Amino acid sequence: MTQSPRPVVIAGNWKMYKTIAESVDFIKALVPLVQESPSQVLLAVPFTAIKSAVDEAKGSRITIGAQNMNDASDGAFTGEIAARMLIDVGAEFVILGHSERRHLFKESNTFINRKVKRALSEGLKVILCVGETLDQLDQGKTHEVLKEQLLESLAEVSMEQMKSVTLAYEPVWAVGSDCPATPLQAQEAHHFCRDCIAKAWNPEVAEHLVIQYGGSVKPDNAKELMAQKDIDGLLVGGASLSAETFSKIVNYQD
Ligand code: 13P
Repeated sequence: MTQSPRPVVIAGNWKMYKTIAESVDFIKALVPLVQESPSQVLLAVPFTAIKSAVDEAKGSRITIGAQNMNDASDGAFTGEIAARMLIDVGAEFVILGHSERRHLFKESNTFINRKVKRALSEGLKVILCVGETLDQLDQGKTHEVLKEQLLESLAEVSMEQMKSVTLAYEPVWAVGSDCPATPLQAQEAHHFCRDCIAKAWNPEVAEHLVIQYGGSVKPDNAKELMAQKDIDGLLVGGASLSAETFSKIVNYQD
């Protein structure tokens, strides 16, 4: 089998869970469990826990990031967080376009695109999430939706900037549902996304693009998902809240 040119990147998205103390305890427990793993380990933690998480993760394999940000550099936007504030507390990446942001907070591709460009220009890496709803799946619109989300959310992102972008295919129907996509279903969608990127940028950008799968990933399905050619990593919600469970996903090869 030919070696993939892409690293394995396993990320946890804690969503609106964990205080500072809980975050620090989690990282203390996780560090020794993932020490030997060849995978890159990312944690997207709540804003309030970023600084403490960064301090606790120093010197380990774990990289800390955020789950959202505003598109403006600064300004009168009560309650919002700017990219430079995330960088200020040590975040290295940000998740953008998560389905919970798209659907619960009505974020459009255009808005997400402005955030992507802001994050990249300020020096944050981006995990961009895309994925179809159950209705769109049933109507056979998966490819159409993925293509539109990809091209609109990544509009005007340069080839150089694409090196700082990771994609996450997260079918909305699989998020928090205990009903993951089958490995073949996910592989097909990942292959389609990579092909879109190859056409819109070039084959080399596509070849090096890490595409994670997210949606009901658990220790018992991680290995089978990761065995697919175009699945380079995982974006884990619920199962990333326990250090022991998450470490089993990170160490899926054991
Ligand atoms: P679950 O793993 O809980 O399905 O969540 C997936 C997700 O939304 C990660 O961003």
